[in-house]
Amino acid sequence: MAASLDGFIARKDGRVDWLETSDEFAGGDTMTPDFIKAFLETIDCYVMGSRTYETALRFEAQGLGWAYGDKPTFVLTSRELPRTRDTVEFHSGELAQFVNGRLRPAFRTIWFAGGGAVSAECLRLGLADEVRYSILPVLIGDGIPFFDKLDRDIALHLAEVKAYKSGMVELRYEVRKHRDESGNAT
Ligand SMILES: NC(=O)c1ccc[n+]([C@@H]2O[C@H](COP(=O)([O-])OP(=O)(O)OC[C@H]3O[C@@H](n4cnc5c(N)ncnc54)[C@H](OP(=O)(O)O)[C@@H]3O)[C@@H](O)[C@H]2O)c1
Repeated sequence: MAASLDGFIARKDGRVDWLETSDEFAGGDTMTPDFIKAFLETIDCYVMGSRTYETALRFEAQGLGWAYGDKPTFVLTSRELPRTRDTVEFHSGELAQFVNGRLRPAFRTIWFAGGGAVSAECLRLGLADEVRYSILPVLIGDGIPFFDKLDRDIALHLAEVKAYKSGMVELRYEVRKHRDESGNAT
């Protein structure tokens, strides 16, 4: 996800107006449409929390398009939500079982699109192999955190750093697997 430098992915009320920043970093790379297209092609399916889905529906209703193309998109929810396209599927229940039992055998690159509740849950359950964290050149003071309340430390390996002309810095971390008392990776 993309976060403010102070670690928020949205304002408390869900607004992401601050994502439009106006910085310029002369030494940065340019994110071309071809680069974005090639990158999106590497993603096989999306998983997201219901509040992120509701934001995506709002954007679509405002004419801003659907960000997840024609890729299968799994929305985690215990509620009845509107379904505007065939590629969207709702899921409720145990997340680890769903990801390991249903998604991993079918998809190579599973992209957790957010938000903060789902990203924390994903790390807490030991489901994430990588964390992609993009920092935007802005501080917003308060909001929804990138990782909502983790209950333990998660050790990471910094695998890649990229800076863009827009002033955004993209960090890619690999999650260093933690072993429980029985030696199982979590
Ligand atoms: N800056 C960015 O790059 C970025 C990216 C993504 C999202 N966002 C923003 O983040 C905000 C949403 O984040 P959020 O943390 O409030 O909510 P979220 O993670 O999108 O959704 C959380 C909801 O998903 C449902 N859920 C079902 N199973 C779950 C599970 N195993 N773990 C966690 N949640 C589960 C629950 O709702 P039910 O009541 O439906 O069961 C839960 O309240 C939005 O404003 C969105 O725009 C920003």
